[in-house]
Parts: sequence; C-alpha cells; structure tokens
Amino acid sequence: MRRGDDVLDSRTLMMLSEKYVANTYARYPILLVRGKGTRVWDLEGKEYLDFVSGLAVCNLGHCHPKVVKAIRDQAEKLIHVSNFYYIEPQIQLASLLCQHSFADKVFFCNSGAEANEGAIKLARKYAKEKTGENRYEIITMEQSFHGRTLATLTATAQEKFHKGYEPLMPGFKYVPFNDIKAVKNGVDSKTCAILVEPIQGEGGVNCPTEGYLKALREICDEKGLLLIFDEVQVGMGRTGKLFAYEHEEVEPDMLTLAKSLAGGVPIGALLIKKGIADSFKPGDHASTFGGNPLATAAGIAALTAILEEGMLENCRNVGEYFLFHLEKIKGKFSFVKDVRGRGLILGMELKIDGSSIVKEMMQRGVLINCTMGNVLRFLPPLIVIKEEVDRVIETLEEVFMNIAH
Ligand SMILES: Cc1ncc(COP(=O)(O)O)c(C=O)c1O
Repeated sequence: MRRGDDVLDSRTLMMLSEKYVANTYARYPILLVRGKGTRVWDLEGKEYLDFVSGLAVCNLGHCHPKVVKAIRDQAEKLIHVSNFYYIEPQIQLASLLCQHSFADKVFFCNSGAEANEGAIKLARKYAKEKTGENRYEIITMEQSFHGRTLATLTATAQEKFHKGYEPLMPGFKYVPFNDIKAVKNGVDSKTCAILVEPIQGEGGVNCPTEGYLKALREICDEKGLLLIFDEVQVGMGRTGKLFAYEHEEVEPDMLTLAKSLAGGVPIGALLIKKGIADSFKPGDHASTFGGNPLATAAGIAALTAILEEGMLENCRNVGEYFLFHLEKIKGKFSFVKDVRGRGLILGMELKIDGSSIVKEMMQRGVLINCTMGNVLRFLPPLIVIKEEVDRVIETLEEVFMNIAH
C-alpha cells in the first residue's frame, strides 16, 4: 500500500488498521501479503508454514493455479449478474454438488452464517407447511458454532457469543453434544429440526461418538424432524472425505457449506433434499451476490481440484501420520490432555492456556490456531506433505520443552 510516493511498512499499516478498521479481531502482529501452496509470506518477506489455512478456507493451498485461472477467466467474461437471470457457472456448481452428495438442490449465498440462516428459515417453513402446526424450534448442541448473525449466534450454544446482543432469537434449544438422551428429552411439539456439526470445530475439535449421528437421524425420522449438518468447517474434504457425513453412513436433509467451497472466494451454500427444497418458492429467500458468476466459477475449479488431484487420499494419509505424531507428543508432556480429530482437522487439548504457544510457533515460522482457550487446532491445506508435518511436530516439541523447563 502506498500513501503519496511512500510504500507503507507493516508497522504503519497496523497503526492505520487500528485507526480505521473496526476492532472486532484480536490480531497477531503480522501482515500477510502473498501465499503459495502451504506457505504464506509477510510484508518483510518472512515465510510461514500455514496450518491455519484461513481457518479451513484454503483447503487447496494458497492460490491454487486452477482457482486462479478460473477467477481470471471469469473476471474477463462476467463478474456479476442478478439472480433474475440464469447463471452458467452457478448451474454447473449446483449440479456438481448434487452429483457428489445426498442433495437434489442448492441455494447459494456468501458465508457460513448465511447458509445456516437459509437452513433455519427453510426448516421453519417446511415444518409449518408439512404439519400445519407452528413448529419452529431447532435443537443445537453445546459448544457448537454456527455463525454471527442474530439467528446463527443464537443457534450457537455458547454464552460468550451471546453477551451484549440480547434479546436473542426465540426458537432454539440447547443440549450437550454426544448426548442422545438429552436430544430425546428435548424434542417436543414445537421442534422442527436438529442442527449439528459432524465435528465441532470452534468448540474444540469435538468428534461424535460412535453411532451418535446415526441416532440423531433415527430420532429425526421417528419424530418427523429435519436433520441439518453444518459442514461449513469440515466439508470440502477437510476430514478425508468430500463431506464429513460420509464417514458415518448417515445422510442429512440439509447441509451447509462455505469456507473452502470456492478456494478462498466468499461463498456459502445450502444443500437440500428435493421434497424439502420445494418449500422455497420464488421470492421466499434470496441473496444479491449468492452464486454469482465469479464465486461459482472459482467453486467449480476448487471442487474439481479436490476430486481430481488426490487431495482426499492425501488428507487421510497425512492426517493419520499427523495424529500419530501428536499422540506421541501427548505421551511426552503431562500438560497435554487429549489429542483428537479426523483427516486434517486435528485438535490438541491442553491443561494450560494455548495462546502463548500459538505466538511461539508463529515466531518460529509456523501458523497454528487455538480455540476455546486451550485447544490447539491444526488445519493445514489438504496438499500438505509429511515433511511439513514433521517440521510442525518438531517446532511444537521445541516450544513444549521450553514450557516444561
Ligand atoms: C461450523 C461453522 N458454521 C458456521 C460458521 C460461520 O461461517 P462464516 O464465518 O462464513 O459466517 C463457521 C465459522 O467458523 C463454522 O465453523
């Protein structure tokens, strides 16, 4: 960035950020300007190995050539038109998503929160039409995360996100994750759906216990409820299958996607089974940018690359290798409480605060994340190789040794 003839340095830019950008993020003091594959570089040219991937956005790695080309080609042809008209890449991306999932129809939007808003609205509308009753309540799980809009932050069963925004939206009931009895007890005449992440990401990389998602499906079938999977974080290959539900032999009625769906271009999508999608009629729901040519052209390139370039297999192989080595570290340091995850969404729960560890790793050129205060979360691009995992493991051990002494 320039002001007059001066190229601004990081410090100046960070000061300008503090001055002009709303203060909603606690930022680390680095300014990233370039990315390629698993690496990013800051303004001073320092290289980082990126095990955050824009929080599960850059599943293909940074600036994947097919995504870059698709964006470039589409930008020269048509960037945006209204959903008043048919949009070629939107049609292609929707049909690809349906071909590779349980879904029959797709509603496009711009973010995970917006995809979940769509799911919440459709669940309410479908239930009212189907049952003729005022069924509107959705059961969600403690430690969940579904977004920051008023409805999705209410769906998010974590008090810290609610504070200051009351009154919250009516129509949500919270139960503990992995507790089928609590779900059964929670269902009543107002319930229309269950919304759940197949693995809770923000909530601490919490995996479902064996049979949990299947049992949720059974409750939904028995009680006439919709099962909604929020795969905003774990979809698009993150767990080693295109969608996390594929591990469990359970299909949802709706599924939400965003983050990595278009390789870094903002997008969201609500995948829907046919009988349910029919409750949305023209004018019932909309989004100006939803499924625009640029985002969906990028989405086609990203989805095709995930499917054709062996990323799912690499995710499973390197994920297993990574998990094995995290387990080994756990055995060496008493302040490591648990290691868990699937594919390349892995978490290490500590008995101590994790924020200083993230900073220490960053100083050593490795970007990782910490969620819930004490769970180190690793979300490398799906193209990551074992040697890169080795480097992260070695760096983590070095940082842990310093803490232990
Ligand atoms: C599971 C899940 N759902 C929804 C969201 C919200 O997505 P967005 O920030 O794109 O609105 C997130 C974001 O982290 C998420 O992890």
